[in-house]
Amino acid sequence: MELPFAESWKIKMIEPIRKSTRQEREQWIKEAHYNTFQLAADKVYIDLITDSGTGSMSQAQWAGMMMGDESYAGASSFFNLKNMIAKLTGFEYVIPTHQGRAAENVLFSYLVKEGNVCPGNSHFDTTKGHIESRKAIALDCTIDEAKDTQLEIPFKGNVDPIKLEQALKDHKGNIPFIIITITNNTAGGQPVSMKNLREVSALSKKYDVPVLFDSARFAENAYFIKTREEGYANKTIKEIVKEMFSYADGMTMSAKKDAIVNMGGFIATRKQDWFDGAKNFCIIMEGYLTYGGMNGRDMNALAIGLDENTEFEMLETRIKQVEYLAMKLDEYGVAYQRPAGGHAIFVDAAKVLTHVPKEQFPAQTLTVELYLEAGIRGCEIGYILADRDPITRENRFGGLDFLRLAIPRRVYTNNHMDVIAAALKNVKDRAEQITKGYTIEWEAPLMRHFTVKLEKAK
Ligand code: F0G
Repeated sequence: MELPFAESWKIKMIEPIRKSTRQEREQWIKEAHYNTFQLAADKVYIDLITDSGTGSMSQAQWAGMMMGDESYAGASSFFNLKNMIAKLTGFEYVIPTHQGRAAENVLFSYLVKEGNVCPGNSHFDTTKGHIESRKAIALDCTIDEAKDTQLEIPFKGNVDPIKLEQALKDHKGNIPFIIITITNNTAGGQPVSMKNLREVSALSKKYDVPVLFDSARFAENAYFIKTREEGYANKTIKEIVKEMFSYADGMTMSAKKDAIVNMGGFIATRKQDWFDGAKNFCIIMEGYLTYGGMNGRDMNALAIGLDENTEFEMLETRIKQVEYLAMKLDEYGVAYQRPAGGHAIFVDAAKVLTHVPKEQFPAQTLTVELYLEAGIRGCEIGYILADRDPITRENRFGGLDFLRLAIPRRVYTNNHMDVIAAALKNVKDRAEQITKGYTIEWEAPLMRHFTVKLEKAK
């Protein structure tokens, strides 16, 4: 018989996790104001709140930590990192930062001015936050197909070249960069095709606007190009990555995802003016240019993580686990953004909790129900995360309303995936009894989802 698929690594160190009772969880989630970000991690059994900074490092990365050079200036760890980034992306200028949003903050402090427009596919919330807090506009030009969660197309994260070109015409002279997020987290961890990156690059040249990649999950994106796009099956992930970045002028990176470190990020670019402009902000906000918010040891681990996770087997193990969970959900009829994304399953809350009105936040309600059911912590990527419209201050109900189950890298087994799927099935089976959701008791003006306090809808 054909051998089943299994991981390309084995486990050397374990961390115990704790189960709890439903009664305990009812108390804990109430104390957390029905916001999973407010739960203490020891009150969680399987933690899917994010795949960011939650992966397991390899033995090579831990060994690299021991070799960290903690010199303030010119540490060898910085050069290890810079050389690895240059090798993978072709970008020669590198600024380390403590995480992805810090890279955005440093670079956008130089690039984004009041009234600017930054078009692209869906902007991640911190990216949007860093644009909108500078009184600029994050213009989402993702393809319309991304909104139809049941439509199976291979590159649902793509930017619509027609919408993008219109934006480039309408806002000529007022666009600091086009920003492409790979993979498109907000649309469901959906990849962007090489063809689409090429089209964006052509438009950028036509309108003389540079391209920035928000690259948190660039390696997973490359895996999808290899496995789904014609002409790439025989290319290595590293070759694909190199071509992807040939269509960009620079990148911001949250290394907590595809570099599989617990903390870290960077800016990399081929544009000397971006480098020179961002440098001063790095020194003020993050640290000196050869560490910018990271320890030497962390830069070593980051460099090794980038190298390891741009190998096919590592990515295959990861993506196949997400696919496995998707397959179980198919079996139980739980709807999610199709096809399964790279780092997460995005459950389509409106299709599961059919009796909760949108004003009572169905995806948030589902997030709470899943926690109550089995101690599994997901997070809402939906109407609460969408924040209010900066002008009208109305809730933004125009987008998608998901419960995101982000799968940490190299952490859980498929037995955990079985538990997650069964718990969701149980919630789905009692959906008719779940008729009320939650209303907002208190919220922050921006990025409210982290701290929002909710109460049960009356
Ligand atoms: N860009 C994307 C596409 C992201 O997904 C994230 C973080 C960031 C930028 C910011 O990076 O967290 O290192 O500051 N996403 C995490 C998530 C938090 O759960 O999706 P950071």
